[in-house]
Amino acid sequence: MFDYMAMLNLDYMVQARGLAKRFSSRGGAVDAVRSVDIDVSSGEIVGFLGPNGAGKTTTLRILTTLLAPSAGDATVAGHDLRREPVAVRRRIGYVPQRGSTTPQALVGEELVDHGRLHGLSRTTAEDRGRSLISQLDLDGTWERPTGTLSGGQRRRLDIALGLINEPPLLFMDEPTTGLDPQSRANLWQHIRELRDTRGVTVFLTTHYLEEADALCDRILVIDHGVIIARGTPAELKRGVSGDRVALQLDDPDRVGSARAALGRVPDITVLRAEGDLLDLSVPDAGTVLPQVLSTLQDAGVTLAGIEVRRPTLDDVFLSLTGRELRDEPVAA
Ligand SMILES: Nc1ncnc2c1ncn2[C@@H]1O[C@H](COP(=O)(O)OP(=O)(O)OP(=O)(O)O)[C@@H](O)[C@H]1O
Ligand SMILES: [Mg+2]
Repeated sequence: MFDYMAMLNLDYMVQARGLAKRFSSRGGAVDAVRSVDIDVSSGEIVGFLGPNGAGKTTTLRILTTLLAPSAGDATVAGHDLRREPVAVRRRIGYVPQRGSTTPQALVGEELVDHGRLHGLSRTTAEDRGRSLISQLDLDGTWERPTGTLSGGQRRRLDIALGLINEPPLLFMDEPTTGLDPQSRANLWQHIRELRDTRGVTVFLTTHYLEEADALCDRILVIDHGVIIARGTPAELKRGVSGDRVALQLDDPDRVGSARAALGRVPDITVLRAEGDLLDLSVPDAGTVLPQVLSTLQDAGVTLAGIEVRRPTLDDVFLSLTGRELRDEPVAA
């Protein structure tokens, strides 16, 4: 049989075709992942974005050989997922959603043990561990129990553990969930540095649209086990046409009549009406705004505020699914 996976471009770190996973139990079957195709080029930071239960972790566990797919094939870091799982494991790092440290173990011990599991000598494991600790801004934590680290420090230690075998490809499952905005931005900086200084290719999952936007070269959006969009953040945003206009009314009781009046104007789509807020989609805010204002004036509605903006990834998700990606992540 012609092996088409073997002739695929070696510049790809991940090439997956038709990946699927069905979980069967007495309660019935769950199709967690349905025919997913993924391409990740060498040196890219790719974000796998989707709401709770979309199939992100399941896909990641398949790509990291922890879970056998029900269907599909993949080449990961140059090796066939089904035929060469050991070779794949040697060439990848994995930062699981819930981390992998034990609270009592010392930071240095965890790193050395992890290196030993990968077949490194104690000296090599310690050398690499110390260099990662310093690169990830964890200086001074070597002798500390991992349970005493802050959330952001612990996540950086998880990344160090994932890198101890010096993999060219790192998978991260929600690296920043539960972190405050400052620690999150700090971690993004570290992830970019890994790519820039070590040439590590990164595939990460996230719930956070702004994270995908700020950090990722490319994004795959998954929902109900299916990839519903892919592209650079800019491409995805360009796919959503027009401008967004957010109106804040003086009187929340008038939101119904404002909605009705605006709904009669051909170029205006009312996306949402909640409390004293109305969200509109218009082809071009510059030309439609005067009409918005005169329509509201005729309807006797006064405004407390108005904001015009270009579409965000939130709007991309909303236009693709009819829902917002607002469900809160499950705390790690
Ligand atoms: N071992 C399992 N047995 C049965 N169903 C499972 C199993 N693991 C996952 N699922 C189901 O598969 C679907 C996808 O789960 P998955 O963990 O991949 O989602 P996720 O996108 O990572 O979500 P989250 O953002 O909450 O981490 C969910 O409906 C989940 O309940
Ligand atoms: Mg998950």
